Amino acid sequence: MFNPEIYTERRNALRNLMPSGLILLPGNSEAAYNYPANTYTFRQDSNFSYFFGLENPDFTGIIDIDNGIDYIFGNDFEIDDIIWMGPQPKVVDLAVKVGIKNTASLSELTVFINNAIQKRRPIHFAPTYRAETTLQVCGLLGLNPLRIRDYASLPLIEAVIKLRSVKSELEIAEIEKAIGTAWHMFTTGMRMAYPGRKEQEIVGAMEGISIAHGRPVSFPIILSTNGQILHNHHHENILQEGRMMVMDAGSETSLNYCSDITRTVPVGGKFSQKQREIYEIVLNANLNGIAATKPGTFYRDCHTVACETIATGLKDLGLMKGDVKEAVVAGAHALFLPHGLGHMLGLDVHDMEGLGQIHVGYDSEIQPSSQFGTAYLRMGRRLQPGFVITNEPGIYFIPELIDMWKAEKKYAEFLNYDKIEEYRNFGGIRIEDDILVTADGHRVLGKPIPKTVAEVEATMADRL
Ligand code: GLY
Ligand code: MN
Repeated sequence: MFNPEIYTERRNALRNLMPSGLILLPGNSEAAYNYPANTYTFRQDSNFSYFFGLENPDFTGIIDIDNGIDYIFGNDFEIDDIIWMGPQPKVVDLAVKVGIKNTASLSELTVFINNAIQKRRPIHFAPTYRAETTLQVCGLLGLNPLRIRDYASLPLIEAVIKLRSVKSELEIAEIEKAIGTAWHMFTTGMRMAYPGRKEQEIVGAMEGISIAHGRPVSFPIILSTNGQILHNHHHENILQEGRMMVMDAGSETSLNYCSDITRTVPVGGKFSQKQREIYEIVLNANLNGIAATKPGTFYRDCHTVACETIATGLKDLGLMKGDVKEAVVAGAHALFLPHGLGHMLGLDVHDMEGLGQIHVGYDSEIQPSSQFGTAYLRMGRRLQPGFVITNEPGIYFIPELIDMWKAEKKYAEFLNYDKIEEYRNFGGIRIEDDILVTADGHRVLGKPIPKTVAEVEATMADRL
């Protein structure tokens, strides 16, 4: 974990952004897999991790806005637990490591909250995403679990997003560490992408590398020779010459910071001309989107740059036609790119999404688009130094979407459906990097992972 002062500073910064009352920040409990004692790998709640730093289940943090005191509530382990788990530190000793002197048991938390309720003190909590936490918060506050979202504190949501959006040097170093693990995952995946191999073998190797570096993957690996399915978790295909294989994966560090990278490679190690042409359009969209990334720019404008690059490239190949800017304004490019350019990255792979994407990616200056494709852009607002965002354009040939639009003659002035038919079994390509917004522009984070056609082919030549 970071030094105690970091967590104290974060809690004080949050306190200073809030009006009055208590902030209730429950950490996560163990989550049962198939019976209560058989649990998933423990993952701390990201807000708890940010403000209270401890990687232990069943802790709750309280920040008293009015008197400057912070508390950790949790139970010490008893001898029955210690027999199975080995010696365990006391809550009071753990709390000191994150700058907290005041600790008490979970039963005392109930008394503490009852006291605050009787005094009519406001109690702020963030939206919950796990049933256990929902029940805990509702039990403490006497709320209806089905309506808990109505009671989440907007001032808390906005304050947490304000703080967590701007990453410190220490946080950036953590994200780069997670990308370092991804470098090993992706170069291994590339070197394994040869005909006859099953997708699942490559998934297993990549996931194993993440675990070997200390922590599980930051989200279930997306890996498929059917990359036109955006989040494809089916890994049963046998790799065949002529297919492209999308790998979208990331790792987490011991402090829960994430990476999120995508690379697409030709099965067998050599791009065909058709594959290279589409790949280089996606690569240019990624590079042009990155080049446009700087403080003050709306991320939606970077998205538009990437969309225009894709429309230009596809027009050059004869798949699109007409005026490129008009085509993108109309939304015709979304046949090939039906998602947004990227999202924030940090303690969550879609950073802070649990607080509500509308608050993370949009504000009073800019609201989400309702247009198909751009409506999925998770991050539209102005960039600030310290933001970390993903840049992940793609071109996908989705037969079901092509058939639907073609039957409707949708955007017929911009789409050359006869030419598009030649690509209907192509699959998909996505390329994703993690980008830091700096004071005067941007920096692509982490050890560079092979990305150009030449780099990918050279890496794959060292076959595993
Ligand atoms: N890496 C998966 C996603 O961004 O949705
Ligand atoms: Mn992503």
